[in-house]
Amino acid sequence: MSSQPGLKSRPLSPAVAMLDLHPAPADMARLVIEGLSRTPKQLPAWFLYDHEGSRLFDAICEQPEYGLTRTETALLNRHAPAMAAALGKGVLVEFGAGSARKVSPLLEALAPPAYVALDISAEHLRQACRNLQQRHPTIPVLGICCDYSLLQELPQQPLLAGRRRLGFYPGSSLGNFDPAEAVTLLGQFARLLGGDGRLLIGIDQPRSVAALEAAYNDRAGHSAAFARNLLVRLNRELAGDFDPASFRYEAHWQGQHSRIAMALVSEHEQQVSLAGARWRFGAGEALITEYSHKYSPEAFRALAAAAGWQALERWSADDDSVSLHLLQPATVGSAPGRLSI
Ligand code: AVJ
Repeated sequence: MSSQPGLKSRPLSPAVAMLDLHPAPADMARLVIEGLSRTPKQLPAWFLYDHEGSRLFDAICEQPEYGLTRTETALLNRHAPAMAAALGKGVLVEFGAGSARKVSPLLEALAPPAYVALDISAEHLRQACRNLQQRHPTIPVLGICCDYSLLQELPQQPLLAGRRRLGFYPGSSLGNFDPAEAVTLLGQFARLLGGDGRLLIGIDQPRSVAALEAAYNDRAGHSAAFARNLLVRLNRELAGDFDPASFRYEAHWQGQHSRIAMALVSEHEQQVSLAGARWRFGAGEALITEYSHKYSPEAFRALAAAAGWQALERWSADDDSVSLHLLQPATVGSAPGRLSI
């Protein structure tokens, strides 16, 4: 190593391998047209996560009203060794990694042969992977920018070849999908992770309506800013002319669906240009920005079973508001002599 006296060497962030499979603008335009043609109008939740949206989401996670991140992080810190032992060896694949702030204790306990992080937000993901690579220099890190709900297969990569795959899906992001979509997604993960794969998944459970509504409408206004940023993104990327100030943000618990519905509600009748078309919003009409479904452990296990997963273990917070479920493919370890059709 050459060293020049007087020059302090600053460690460069390591280069990390990244694949960019982000949906193209034309696909985004198609999804917008589809979503705004629905009643009620609704866009895929991943549209919320441009660079600014990912930053705002990180801010939400630190709000006093939003306990999910803190609770789940504490669970991971406390039980990572047991989780790692139950997972066994394999490449760790995180779906919707975001800032990837939760995975470190698991990486330490597992020492996997590689870590693959999937997220829709390219720059955010790159930074997260760099930070992690610095913290865990001996674990090869690969970032894949993509809509993981469309991913039928993991890209052919040497670091995945011939290795078991352990899925990690924290944050209760499954809640963004309605139950039928959630079953489809879990089934896709099952195929993608393979017959000897496992899935460790964080699930937010129903609790008091006041606590839930506060979590999605924090006093500091980050939840509202996060939703409104969607309109700013659409204006910039899909030639829109939304006036974000003419939409108010609302988050309501819908008990019959066991979900929070988050929406931007038009303050008055208006027309908006977007993706080459004009869209009418009535006064009080909602654009659903996302749903956040909450599942009891039993309801979640039923969902997982419908997708071919069987529950192995569950780690739960003291107040039982959030839990991490460990799943294995339903055919693995079934009682010997079972009937097969
Ligand atoms: C990332 C989908 C888990 O539903 O709690 C939080 C998203 N949006 N506040 C959630 C979210 C507004 C979050 N998930």
